[in-house]
Amino acid sequence: MTATVPPATTLPDHIALAEEWSTHNYHPLPVVVAEAQGAWVTDVHGRRYLDFLAGYSALNFGHRHPELVAAAVDQLGKLTLTSRAFHHDQFGLFCRELAELTGTDLVLTMNTGAEAVESAIKVARKWAYQVKGVPADTAEIIVVGGNFHGRTTTIVSFSTDPTAREGFGPFTPGFRVVPYGDTAALEAAITDRTAAVLVEPIQGEAGVVVPPVDYLPAVRRLCDANDVLLVADEIQSGLARTGTLFALDHEGVRADLYTLGKALGGGILPVSAVVGRRDVLGVLRPGEHGSTFGGNPLACAVGRAVVRLLATGEFQERSTTLGAHLHGRLGDLVGHGVTRVHGRGLWAGVELTDRTGRAASEDLMARGVLCKETHGTTLRMAPPLVVTEAEVDHAVDTLAQVIA
Ligand SMILES: Cc1ncc(COP(=O)(O)O)c(C=O)c1O
Repeated sequence: MTATVPPATTLPDHIALAEEWSTHNYHPLPVVVAEAQGAWVTDVHGRRYLDFLAGYSALNFGHRHPELVAAAVDQLGKLTLTSRAFHHDQFGLFCRELAELTGTDLVLTMNTGAEAVESAIKVARKWAYQVKGVPADTAEIIVVGGNFHGRTTTIVSFSTDPTAREGFGPFTPGFRVVPYGDTAALEAAITDRTAAVLVEPIQGEAGVVVPPVDYLPAVRRLCDANDVLLVADEIQSGLARTGTLFALDHEGVRADLYTLGKALGGGILPVSAVVGRRDVLGVLRPGEHGSTFGGNPLACAVGRAVVRLLATGEFQERSTTLGAHLHGRLGDLVGHGVTRVHGRGLWAGVELTDRTGRAASEDLMARGVLCKETHGTTLRMAPPLVVTEAEVDHAVDTLAQVIA
């Protein structure tokens, strides 16, 4: 792809503009992207980079996948927003197609990941009062240490990351935190007031952390034994990222509710949803929950195209095959600047021996590969699922140079 590059003299200093005019709630790599296609992005100077982050899995199908762009353009020419005050001709179809793809009964549409998680929390509490019989305003939700579910005040209330929490209290009550992977602690935390267990099947922001083999099946058993909902946050791990539709599928476990986001919008616009059991999501009544943009026609049209791509199984297959290749290649770096590699499919947390994930990301950027740290010495690799084997090799070879 050729980028259209303005003469150097006319280029605004985009980084300085962002520094001066936007809040400093991110620490981006110093690259200014102007165009992208597939697994590659081009900066304002016309320099190309292999994208090995994929918008934290929002770009599972690559940048500007032709079928997704076509669906968006087609819908832009017809209808973009009605609000939920009226019906529109994409909504019911999107909900049915997403429910059929995910093997669930009902769909609650929202926009961002954090909104999907907030929605799941509200639904779980309502279910606890209305169906389980928990006394009013006493329901509890169990979450796990190292979680990342978004940035709202309620969600940071149960974060264990001081940077996410400090300065943002008072916090929302009604959550208990137990260590990730610790079944005994989970069992001990469950009471008659427990509405749900909320868990990421693989913890993305914590460093692409895969739990012990028997953990998720044990969580399911404990939920069943105690009439507690299992809520799987598959916002980053789901929709083919790990080689299956849901990361939970690897464990043969079904959740009662799944939160979805990121790739559901095809990298084009924010689309999120809670999908799950009819008797759980069915507790909501008109006026109790909603969003002006949730389930808008453009979102639904793009979401339907995403569902069609996922239904082919092609992206799950690519993640499985190329993920095995990626993990094989990264495994060879253990002992050569890499301490450990974890993850699944085209998703890897690479623990570096003697450099920070940030420093490695900057060095990789200088060599034309875009990655990002999760924190500390862990580097996250999560390329778009359209990446080729040669591109995976290129990224790993570049990492090998950087840590040599
Ligand atoms: C597992 C998980 N849940 C929720 C979120 C929040 O999504 P959003 O940034 O769209 O609000 C994220 C974002 O990284 C995530 O990884």
